[in-house]
Amino acid sequence: MKLSPIGIFDSGYGGLTILKEIKKLLPQYDFIYLGDNARTPYGTRSFETVYHYTKECVQWLFEQNCNLVILACNTASAKALRSIQRNDLKNLGEEKKVLGVIRPTAETIGNFSQSKHIGILATNGTVQSQSYLLEVEKFFPEIQIFQQACPLWVPLIENDEFESAGADFFIKKYVEELMAQSPKIDAVLLACTHYPLILKKIQQHLPKNVQIISQGEIVAHSLRDYLNRHDEIESSLSKNGEIQFYTTDEAADFDKHSVNFYGEQIHSTQIAL
Ligand code: DGL
Repeated sequence: MKLSPIGIFDSGYGGLTILKEIKKLLPQYDFIYLGDNARTPYGTRSFETVYHYTKECVQWLFEQNCNLVILACNTASAKALRSIQRNDLKNLGEEKKVLGVIRPTAETIGNFSQSKHIGILATNGTVQSQSYLLEVEKFFPEIQIFQQACPLWVPLIENDEFESAGADFFIKKYVEELMAQSPKIDAVLLACTHYPLILKKIQQHLPKNVQIISQGEIVAHSLRDYLNRHDEIESSLSKNGEIQFYTTDEAADFDKHSVNFYGEQIHSTQIAL
């Protein structure tokens, strides 16, 4: 059997913030990253569209011999993961696995709050799907979740405007709207893989006692646990510490912008789906 890299997927750049943390914890594995930059953002699109786009990208990663694919995108995890797991894996390959970022986050989120009031900042799509409410309820029924959609943050981040005064206005606006829902919120989850880039700015508008939860480390630790529990998957993975990057849009553009998300220069290849 040919050994397999781990596939990491996002609508664009955001999944790089997750891959960065996974690579720190699990440097021995090989990864293939795919960003669907040509069709980003996903956060404002319908369930059907996000499902259709995500399925195509997962299929492409399977064709590159990935047996395990992580949807490093909250919107795709919220809108496409369950349908792919339930309806498509039987046709795409029974032995293949697709995991998302919402469940591992929901499994640990309750440990971050004393007040049991947690705020969630996310895209429209993730908020409307109610996925976090449903998943957190399974593990921490005593926790109250307050959600705030932040539709302008991804465009501001992707257009390199996140340091500007215009960005400050919208960061303050959404953070204040979240906190107005409950003064008891003492932990806020960045439930979009783009948001770690504006973490410091978000922090400036939150009361001092509020802790920010970023997903990268949570997902990385959850993946390590998963591989420890699933030897049949772990033993099928290739381990040369190599990472390949692919984008559905222009590679030079991807390489330029990805530094903000990944912290180092990368060299990507453009693909057509
Ligand atoms: N980074 C994606 C997420 O975690 C959303 C970006 C987009 O809207 O495409 O939800």
